[in-house]
Amino acid sequence: MTLRVDVLTTFPEMFAPEAPGALGLSIPARARRAGLVEWHATNIRDYAANKHDKTDDRPFGGGPGMVMMCQPVWDAVQAVEAQDPRPATRILMTPQGRPLSQEIVEGLARMPRLLIIAGHYEGLDERVIEKLTPMELSIGDYVLSGGELAAMVLMDAVIRLLPGALGDEESSTQDSFSMIGPNGERLLDCPHYTRPREWMGLAVPEVLISGDHGKVAQWRLAESLRRTQERRPDLLGPPDGR
Ligand code: ADE
Repeated sequence: MTLRVDVLTTFPEMFAPEAPGALGLSIPARARRAGLVEWHATNIRDYAANKHDKTDDRPFGGGPGMVMMCQPVWDAVQAVEAQDPRPATRILMTPQGRPLSQEIVEGLARMPRLLIIAGHYEGLDERVIEKLTPMELSIGDYVLSGGELAAMVLMDAVIRLLPGALGDEESSTQDSFSMIGPNGERLLDCPHYTRPREWMGLAVPEVLISGDHGKVAQWRLAESLRRTQERRPDLLGPPDGR
């Protein structure tokens, strides 16, 4: 079954399937051509029920920036959802959202349909969020000019997990966060090497050339654990005694 992704944005051009950008090349493009995913970008502006196709307005209470109005967003969601009978998982990209994780991505890759709202300006009028009750997702603790890049990050992460999206040589089973530790923790990836065996005085770890698959697997898990401990101890959970 083809995953359908709808993106609601005021910059639909960014998602043109032919655009040589993040989604128009490489794995997402190949997955789209193979029929594993289709995406449609809808311009929220097309649903503005005012003379000037306005989608944003000044914030009540004053202050800088503009706020996206309820009506165009609400109407766009209703119209887009009616285009397909499959229920859509509603997602809003926002720095106030839950931090995106591989676990969330895996869950979304199993859904039949995603509807991603990419907000701009200072954000959406809170009331339309309250009515739509989307899953709110952040791609990190920094602020982008809009949710479009965040939506593309999410789409790329989901699409590469669709069955058939990656060739054998690109398998996702050993990615960072897919490597599982002894206590079920998600680990960082281990280091990788390719030819030549020696480069600038640096040799490839002996075990990788040994041909002993069991030893190689053991080494990779140990390296993953070591890296995770060193770089992201938070992934291994709270230290003992807490
Ligand atoms: N929109 C603006 N910044 C964002 C972020 N960090 N994550 C998701 N959406 C955003």
